[in-house]
Amino acid sequence: MYAIQIKNVVKEYKNGVQALSGLNLTVKQGELFSLLGQNGAGKSTLIRILTTYLKPTSGHIVMFGKDIEKEATTIRTEIACVSQQTSIDTYLSLEENMLFQSRLYKIPKAEAFDRMEKLIVAFDLEQYRKYPVSSYSGGVKRRLDIALNMMTNPKLLFLDEPTVGMDIQSRRLMWEMINKIRNDFGTTIFLTTHYLEEADNLSNTICIMKDGKEVIQGTPFDLRSYLRQDNVQIHFTNAAILKQYMSKLKEHFGEQELYVKNTTLIVHTHNGKNDMEKAIYFLLQRNIPFIGIEVAQPTLEDVFLRLTSKSEGNSL
Ligand SMILES: Nc1ncnc2c1ncn2[C@@H]1O[C@H](COP(=O)(O)OP(=O)(O)O)[C@@H](O)[C@H]1O
Ligand SMILES: [Mg+2]
Repeated sequence: MYAIQIKNVVKEYKNGVQALSGLNLTVKQGELFSLLGQNGAGKSTLIRILTTYLKPTSGHIVMFGKDIEKEATTIRTEIACVSQQTSIDTYLSLEENMLFQSRLYKIPKAEAFDRMEKLIVAFDLEQYRKYPVSSYSGGVKRRLDIALNMMTNPKLLFLDEPTVGMDIQSRRLMWEMINKIRNDFGTTIFLTTHYLEEADNLSNTICIMKDGKEVIQGTPFDLRSYLRQDNVQIHFTNAAILKQYMSKLKEHFGEQELYVKNTTLIVHTHNGKNDMEKAIYFLLQRNIPFIGIEVAQPTLEDVFLRLTSKSEGNSL
């Protein structure tokens, strides 16, 4: 069964900005779904629509088999959302926050205590139980906010850029927590991110979006050639020099996919080291004035360049 089905959703804000322009995607129940896109792609707008804070301009959304507009009230009881602005009350302790939340949602007292203890143990939060949330770092606050949102036992949890701006250690702890929520609590998770490796590490399904529309959706395995396969990158001092030698370079690389990013030629490769060695030999032999060469993992920008150059049929 699908947790979310989105068909042709358009959102135009009052100022005329079209944040979503005919988006389609599906999220399966129990999975961790990542929406991957750069700033301004429309990720937060979609989350605001899915959590019923905003109405789409047009299109159709079904969540757990229910029409989101007709059954918004029921849907609200089944979901929780942790957005970029944390919702946790920083003057209260974790325990006070959790018990307050449970009263808000009319969870019986005994059940609320049980649930609180279970969450504190599951996410190893004992040390954060008593002091005001304001006394902790941003990364810890964000995890406490997620734990708080699990008090209502949501079927579906939305996380809007849960690790943005975090150092690698806090990010790892967050990843562990997110994995646990899916694996041990069976919660469907819909998260947004602009970090390739985050989507790749955590997800069952990834949807890459750009300018308010999906570009591609698949498992990390399906998308591995976009997310993980090495690039050979050859740097030049300026674009004119690169252009001058382009036809020779194309000849050398034959069938391999090439594209240009600023003053760099990017070559899609299955064997980075081998292709780099061959390229260095070729460049030196032909006296082509490059200033650097390396094997690198693709960035999100590289993925978009590749995807869009493919769809427009203008790869070099
Ligand atoms: N309340 C708003 N009013 C007008 N435009 C908005 C509003 N919120 C977001 N936008 C615009 O919509 C586009 C998508 O924004 P957003 O959904 O926040 O993207 P993301 O979360 O992927 O960074 C951007 O161009 C942004 O400037
Ligand atoms: Mg956003």
